[in-house]
Amino acid sequence: MSLRRIFKKEKQEHRILRQIERTGDALQPEYHRATPECPHPERWSMFDSMTAEVEVLEFLRTLVTTIKPELIVETGTFSGVSTIWLAEGLKANGRGKVISCEFDPVVFAKAKERIGQSAVAGWIELRNESSLEMKVEGKIDLLFSDSDMPVREQEVRRFLPQVSPYGVILMHDASSHLKVVREAALKLEKEGLISVVLLPTPRGLVVAQKREGRK
Ligand SMILES: C[S@@+](CC[C@H](N)C(=O)[O-])C[C@H]1O[C@@H](n2cnc3c(N)ncnc32)[C@H](O)[C@@H]1O
Repeated sequence: MSLRRIFKKEKQEHRILRQIERTGDALQPEYHRATPECPHPERWSMFDSMTAEVEVLEFLRTLVTTIKPELIVETGTFSGVSTIWLAEGLKANGRGKVISCEFDPVVFAKAKERIGQSAVAGWIELRNESSLEMKVEGKIDLLFSDSDMPVREQEVRRFLPQVSPYGVILMHDASSHLKVVREAALKLEKEGLISVVLLPTPRGLVVAQKREGRK
């Protein structure tokens, strides 16, 4: 066992990936704490505490079949589960692509492996880079911001000029308990950059739209 693990300094992402290797994707009740907006988180399900809630994954896939995006950008691939659900929506649509970035090379390798074994690999472009450096070409129809919570505001600001005014911006982990993403979304709204709806899920999900260019 490595010293890092013995002294419990192992990154949470790596620990959860080891757990997934041991048990596979095991469905369990959501255990994030109750909030005023979501008092019964246990009514939701999750595979692990990094991957979005199963109901949010279902929402992502349905949103893709509903708005039929040509280009989806996801920040924070982790093990690739949300990327795969987004890509399943694209496959059902028969068009589009999802570009997803993961800056941790160990995590990236695991995501690449999972995605390579999936039936939707052809719809996904994986990048081993930071959301704050990644460059994408063209207009973004769906932005799913799910990287490190403190950088979400910066990342949305960074991609905003490329987001279509008819597109959708999602910011995960926006519950009142996790705070930072919720506050970032409300700040961006106050500045007149986006309009937000705060969905009351266990970890919170912002559904937003860019204001500029909206008719
Ligand atoms: C909450 S997890 C993503 C979960 C994934 N979207 C899902 O639902 O299946 C966040 C991931 O973002 C990665 N990450 C954190 N900051 C990042 C950044 N600035 N750019 C790219 N990846 C980042 C972390 O290494 C971690 O794997």
